[in-house]
Amino acid sequence: MDLTGKVSLVTGAGQGIGKGIAKVLAQHGSQVMLVDINGEAAQKASDEINHLLPDRAYSFTADLTDAEAIQSMLEYTQDKFERLDCICNNAAASKGLGPVENYSLEDVQATLDLTFTSLWKCLQAEIIFLKKQSKPASIVNISSNSALKGYAFNSIYAATKAAVNNLTQSVAKEVARQQIRVNAVSPGTINTPGVINYFKQEPSAKEMLERSSLLRRIGEPEEIGEMVAFLLSDRASYVTGQIISVDGGSSIN
Ligand SMILES: NC(=O)c1ccc[n+]([C@@H]2O[C@H](COP(=O)([O-])OP(=O)(O)OC[C@H]3O[C@@H](n4cnc5c(N)ncnc54)[C@H](O)[C@@H]3O)[C@@H](O)[C@H]2O)c1
Repeated sequence: MDLTGKVSLVTGAGQGIGKGIAKVLAQHGSQVMLVDINGEAAQKASDEINHLLPDRAYSFTADLTDAEAIQSMLEYTQDKFERLDCICNNAAASKGLGPVENYSLEDVQATLDLTFTSLWKCLQAEIIFLKKQSKPASIVNISSNSALKGYAFNSIYAATKAAVNNLTQSVAKEVARQQIRVNAVSPGTINTPGVINYFKQEPSAKEMLERSSLLRRIGEPEEIGEMVAFLLSDRASYVTGQIISVDGGSSIN
Protein backbone atom coordinates (compact mmCIF):
# COMPACT_ATOMS: atom_id res chain seq x y z
CA MET A 1 0.00 0.00 0.00
CA ASP A 2 1.67 3.19 -1.13
CA LEU A 3 0.35 6.69 -0.51
CA THR A 4 3.50 8.46 -1.71
CA GLY A 5 2.64 11.71 -3.47
CA LYS A 6 -0.83 11.83 -1.95
CA VAL A 7 -2.14 14.58 0.31
CA SER A 8 -4.51 13.46 3.08
CA LEU A 9 -6.64 15.30 5.60
CA VAL A 10 -7.80 13.74 8.87
CA THR A 11 -10.33 15.43 11.15
CA GLY A 12 -10.21 14.98 14.92
CA ALA A 13 -6.55 13.99 14.61
CA GLY A 14 -5.37 15.49 17.91
CA GLN A 15 -5.81 12.25 19.83
CA GLY A 16 -7.28 8.76 19.75
CA ILE A 17 -8.28 7.06 16.51
CA GLY A 18 -7.72 10.16 14.35
CA LYS A 19 -4.14 10.51 15.58
CA GLY A 20 -3.55 6.79 14.85
CA ILE A 21 -4.99 7.19 11.35
CA ALA A 22 -2.80 10.24 10.61
CA LYS A 23 0.28 8.36 11.80
CA VAL A 24 -0.44 5.33 9.59
CA LEU A 25 -1.17 7.48 6.52
CA ALA A 26 2.19 9.22 7.01
CA GLN A 27 3.92 5.85 7.42
CA HIS A 28 2.46 4.81 4.05
CA GLY A 29 4.02 7.89 2.43
CA SER A 30 1.23 10.50 2.45
CA GLN A 31 1.59 14.09 3.54
CA VAL A 32 -1.09 14.62 6.17
CA MET A 33 -3.06 17.62 7.43
CA LEU A 34 -4.16 16.97 11.01
CA VAL A 35 -7.25 18.99 11.91
CA ASP A 36 -8.72 19.39 15.39
CA ILE A 37 -10.67 21.87 17.50
CA ASN A 38 -7.83 21.41 19.98
CA GLY A 39 -5.06 23.05 17.95
CA GLU A 40 -2.40 22.31 20.55
CA ALA A 41 -3.17 18.57 20.44
CA ALA A 42 -3.13 18.57 16.62
CA GLN A 43 0.23 20.38 16.63
CA LYS A 44 1.65 17.93 19.17
CA ALA A 45 0.42 14.92 17.18
CA SER A 46 1.91 16.32 13.97
CA ASP A 47 5.22 17.03 15.78
CA GLU A 48 5.30 13.38 16.89
CA ILE A 49 4.83 12.20 13.30
CA ASN A 50 7.44 14.64 11.95
CA HIS A 51 9.91 13.48 14.58
CA LEU A 52 9.89 10.04 12.92
CA LEU A 53 8.99 11.11 9.36
CA PRO A 54 10.24 14.68 8.74
CA ASP A 55 7.92 17.13 6.92
CA ARG A 56 5.11 14.59 6.56
CA ALA A 57 2.57 16.21 8.92
CA TYR A 58 0.92 19.64 9.29
CA SER A 59 -1.78 20.85 11.64
CA PHE A 60 -4.80 23.13 11.42
CA THR A 61 -7.21 24.28 14.13
CA ALA A 62 -10.91 24.15 13.26
CA ASP A 63 -14.24 23.63 14.96
CA LEU A 64 -15.94 21.41 12.42
CA THR A 65 -19.43 22.40 13.52
CA ASP A 66 -18.62 25.74 11.84
CA ALA A 67 -19.02 25.77 8.02
CA GLU A 68 -16.62 28.74 7.66
CA ALA A 69 -13.91 26.88 9.60
CA ILE A 70 -14.39 23.87 7.30
CA GLN A 71 -13.96 26.13 4.27
CA SER A 72 -10.78 27.61 5.79
CA MET A 73 -9.44 24.08 6.47
CA LEU A 74 -9.87 23.15 2.78
CA GLU A 75 -8.44 26.46 1.52
CA TYR A 76 -5.42 26.17 3.84
CA THR A 77 -4.76 22.62 2.57
CA GLN A 78 -5.11 23.77 -1.05
CA ASP A 79 -2.70 26.70 -0.46
CA LYS A 80 -0.16 24.44 1.22
CA PHE A 81 -0.20 21.42 -1.15
CA GLU A 82 -2.18 22.51 -4.22
CA ARG A 83 -4.10 19.24 -4.07
CA LEU A 84 -6.11 16.95 -1.83
CA ASP A 85 -6.51 13.23 -2.58
CA CYS A 86 -7.63 11.50 0.60
CA ILE A 87 -9.97 12.61 3.38
CA CYS A 88 -10.90 10.89 6.62
CA ASN A 89 -13.87 12.42 8.47
CA ASN A 90 -13.16 11.08 11.95
CA ALA A 91 -14.06 13.87 14.44
CA ALA A 92 -17.10 13.22 16.61
CA ALA A 93 -18.34 13.69 20.15
CA SER A 94 -21.55 12.95 21.98
CA LYS A 95 -23.54 14.18 24.96
CA GLY A 96 -25.66 12.15 27.30
CA LEU A 97 -25.54 8.49 28.28
CA GLY A 98 -27.97 6.11 29.92
CA PRO A 99 -31.53 5.00 29.27
CA VAL A 100 -33.42 6.82 26.54
CA GLU A 101 -35.70 8.55 29.06
CA ASN A 102 -32.68 10.30 30.62
CA TYR A 103 -31.70 12.24 27.48
CA SER A 104 -32.63 15.89 27.18
CA LEU A 105 -33.43 17.48 23.83
CA GLU A 106 -30.20 19.50 24.28
CA ASP A 107 -28.19 16.25 24.54
CA VAL A 108 -29.83 14.91 21.37
CA GLN A 109 -29.23 18.15 19.48
CA ALA A 110 -25.60 18.37 20.65
CA THR A 111 -24.88 14.75 19.66
CA LEU A 112 -26.49 15.30 16.26
CA ASP A 113 -24.42 18.50 15.76
CA LEU A 114 -21.12 16.96 16.88
CA THR A 115 -21.43 13.54 15.24
CA PHE A 116 -23.72 13.89 12.22
CA THR A 117 -24.27 17.50 11.14
CA SER A 118 -20.58 18.44 11.38
CA LEU A 119 -19.65 15.40 9.25
CA TRP A 120 -22.36 16.30 6.74
CA LYS A 121 -21.01 19.89 6.59
CA CYS A 122 -17.49 18.53 5.99
CA LEU A 123 -18.67 16.07 3.35
CA GLN A 124 -20.64 18.72 1.48
CA ALA A 125 -17.70 21.17 1.39
CA GLU A 126 -15.27 18.37 0.49
CA ILE A 127 -17.39 17.15 -2.43
CA ILE A 128 -17.65 20.70 -3.82
CA PHE A 129 -13.87 21.07 -3.43
CA LEU A 130 -13.06 17.67 -4.99
CA LYS A 131 -15.43 18.13 -7.93
CA LYS A 132 -13.71 21.44 -8.73
CA GLN A 133 -10.32 19.74 -8.44
CA SER A 134 -11.58 17.19 -10.97
CA LYS A 135 -9.24 14.33 -10.00
CA PRO A 136 -9.99 10.87 -8.53
CA ALA A 137 -10.24 11.04 -4.74
CA SER A 138 -11.26 8.91 -1.79
CA ILE A 139 -13.16 9.74 1.40
CA VAL A 140 -13.55 7.56 4.50
CA ASN A 141 -16.07 8.43 7.21
CA ILE A 142 -15.52 6.96 10.66
CA SER A 143 -18.68 5.33 11.90
CA SER A 144 -19.18 2.91 14.80
CA ASN A 145 -20.35 -0.67 15.27
CA SER A 146 -22.98 0.81 17.60
CA ALA A 147 -24.84 1.77 14.39
CA LEU A 148 -25.23 -1.84 13.24
CA LYS A 149 -27.45 -3.39 15.90
CA GLY A 150 -28.34 -0.50 18.22
CA TYR A 151 -26.50 0.30 21.44
CA ALA A 152 -28.33 0.26 24.78
CA PHE A 153 -27.63 3.32 26.95
CA ASN A 154 -25.89 5.17 24.12
CA SER A 155 -28.86 5.25 21.76
CA ILE A 156 -28.55 8.73 20.29
CA TYR A 157 -24.87 8.36 19.41
CA ALA A 158 -25.68 4.98 17.79
CA ALA A 159 -28.52 6.55 15.81
CA THR A 160 -26.30 9.39 14.51
CA LYS A 161 -23.69 6.84 13.38
CA ALA A 162 -26.43 4.90 11.55
CA ALA A 163 -27.17 8.18 9.76
CA VAL A 164 -23.45 8.49 8.90
CA ASN A 165 -23.57 5.01 7.31
CA ASN A 166 -26.60 5.85 5.21
CA LEU A 167 -25.14 9.23 4.16
CA THR A 168 -21.93 7.43 3.12
CA GLN A 169 -23.87 5.13 0.78
CA SER A 170 -26.04 7.90 -0.71
CA VAL A 171 -23.09 10.20 -1.39
CA ALA A 172 -21.03 7.30 -2.82
CA LYS A 173 -23.82 6.82 -5.38
CA GLU A 174 -23.88 10.54 -6.21
CA VAL A 175 -20.16 11.04 -6.84
CA ALA A 176 -19.00 7.74 -8.35
CA ARG A 177 -19.11 9.19 -11.88
CA GLN A 178 -16.58 11.83 -10.77
CA GLN A 179 -14.25 8.99 -9.61
CA ILE A 180 -14.71 9.96 -5.97
CA ARG A 181 -15.04 6.91 -3.71
CA VAL A 182 -16.80 7.21 -0.34
CA ASN A 183 -16.64 4.47 2.30
CA ALA A 184 -17.05 4.16 6.06
CA VAL A 185 -14.97 2.31 8.62
CA SER A 186 -16.88 1.04 11.62
CA PRO A 187 -14.61 0.49 14.64
CA GLY A 188 -15.31 -1.82 17.55
CA THR A 189 -13.91 -0.80 20.95
CA ILE A 190 -10.55 0.91 20.49
CA ASN A 191 -7.79 1.83 22.94
CA THR A 192 -8.40 5.61 23.13
CA PRO A 193 -8.36 8.13 26.02
CA GLY A 194 -12.16 8.02 26.36
CA VAL A 195 -12.27 4.22 26.48
CA ILE A 196 -9.38 4.04 28.97
CA ASN A 197 -11.20 6.54 31.17
CA TYR A 198 -14.40 4.49 30.96
CA PHE A 199 -12.52 1.32 31.97
CA LYS A 200 -11.15 3.18 35.02
CA GLN A 201 -14.71 4.05 36.09
CA GLU A 202 -16.19 0.64 35.13
CA PRO A 203 -13.45 -2.01 35.44
CA SER A 204 -15.93 -4.83 34.66
CA ALA A 205 -16.65 -3.26 31.26
CA LYS A 206 -13.09 -3.94 30.12
CA GLU A 207 -13.37 -7.70 30.43
CA MET A 208 -16.86 -7.72 28.98
CA LEU A 209 -15.80 -5.72 25.89
CA GLU A 210 -12.62 -7.76 25.42
CA ARG A 211 -14.73 -10.94 25.50
CA SER A 212 -17.17 -9.48 22.96
CA SER A 213 -14.39 -9.54 20.35
CA LEU A 214 -13.53 -12.87 18.70
CA LEU A 215 -9.87 -11.89 19.14
CA ARG A 216 -10.45 -11.33 22.89
CA ARG A 217 -8.96 -7.82 23.02
CA ILE A 218 -9.81 -4.24 22.16
CA GLY A 219 -8.24 -2.68 19.06
CA GLU A 220 -5.50 -0.10 18.59
CA PRO A 221 -6.03 3.22 16.73
CA GLU A 222 -3.38 2.19 14.18
CA GLU A 223 -5.44 -0.92 13.31
CA ILE A 224 -8.24 1.41 12.22
CA GLY A 225 -5.58 3.48 10.42
CA GLU A 226 -4.47 0.50 8.29
CA MET A 227 -8.02 -0.06 6.96
CA VAL A 228 -8.46 3.67 6.32
CA ALA A 229 -5.11 3.76 4.48
CA PHE A 230 -6.20 0.85 2.27
CA LEU A 231 -9.56 2.48 1.43
CA LEU A 232 -7.88 5.81 0.69
CA SER A 233 -5.25 4.17 -1.51
CA ASP A 234 -5.48 3.24 -5.20
CA ARG A 235 -5.40 -0.41 -4.09
CA ALA A 236 -9.06 0.03 -3.13
CA SER A 237 -9.93 1.41 -6.59
CA TYR A 238 -13.07 -0.78 -6.92
CA VAL A 239 -14.40 -0.23 -3.38
CA THR A 240 -17.08 2.39 -2.77
CA GLY A 241 -20.24 2.77 -0.70
CA GLN A 242 -19.12 0.15 1.84
CA ILE A 243 -19.34 0.12 5.63
CA ILE A 244 -16.41 -1.98 6.84
CA SER A 245 -16.14 -3.12 10.45
CA VAL A 246 -12.70 -3.26 12.05
CA ASP A 247 -13.58 -4.84 15.36
CA GLY A 248 -11.80 -8.13 16.01
CA GLY A 249 -15.00 -9.83 14.85
CA SER A 250 -17.22 -8.41 17.60
CA SER A 251 -20.01 -7.51 15.15
CA ILE A 252 -20.51 -11.21 14.29
CA ASN A 253 -19.93 -12.58 17.79
N1 LIG B 1 -12.90 4.90 20.70
C1 LIG B 1 -13.72 3.95 20.27
O1 LIG B 1 -13.74 2.84 20.84
C2 LIG B 1 -14.62 4.19 19.09
C3 LIG B 1 -15.45 3.13 18.68
C4 LIG B 1 -16.26 3.32 17.57
C5 LIG B 1 -16.24 4.51 16.87
N2 LIG B 1 -15.43 5.52 17.29
C6 LIG B 1 -15.41 6.76 16.47
O2 LIG B 1 -14.07 7.04 16.12
C7 LIG B 1 -13.88 8.46 16.01
C8 LIG B 1 -12.76 8.89 16.94
O3 LIG B 1 -13.06 8.47 18.25
P1 LIG B 1 -12.03 8.64 19.46
O4 LIG B 1 -12.47 7.69 20.49
O5 LIG B 1 -10.65 8.63 18.93
O6 LIG B 1 -12.44 10.11 19.94
P2 LIG B 1 -11.62 11.16 20.85
O7 LIG B 1 -12.64 11.89 21.63
O8 LIG B 1 -10.51 10.47 21.58
O9 LIG B 1 -10.97 12.11 19.76
C9 LIG B 1 -11.79 12.91 18.95
C10 LIG B 1 -11.00 14.10 18.49
O10 LIG B 1 -11.89 14.91 17.71
C11 LIG B 1 -11.78 16.25 18.12
N3 LIG B 1 -13.05 16.93 17.89
C12 LIG B 1 -14.23 16.69 18.51
N4 LIG B 1 -15.15 17.55 18.07
C13 LIG B 1 -14.55 18.34 17.15
C14 LIG B 1 -14.98 19.44 16.36
N5 LIG B 1 -16.24 19.92 16.43
N6 LIG B 1 -14.11 20.01 15.52
C15 LIG B 1 -12.84 19.55 15.43
N7 LIG B 1 -12.37 18.55 16.17
C16 LIG B 1 -13.22 17.95 17.02
C17 LIG B 1 -11.43 16.19 19.60
O11 LIG B 1 -10.79 17.39 20.04
C18 LIG B 1 -10.51 14.97 19.65
O12 LIG B 1 -9.15 15.31 19.46
C19 LIG B 1 -15.22 9.08 16.35
O13 LIG B 1 -15.94 9.28 15.15
C20 LIG B 1 -15.90 8.01 17.19
O14 LIG B 1 -17.29 8.12 17.16
C21 LIG B 1 -14.62 5.39 18.40
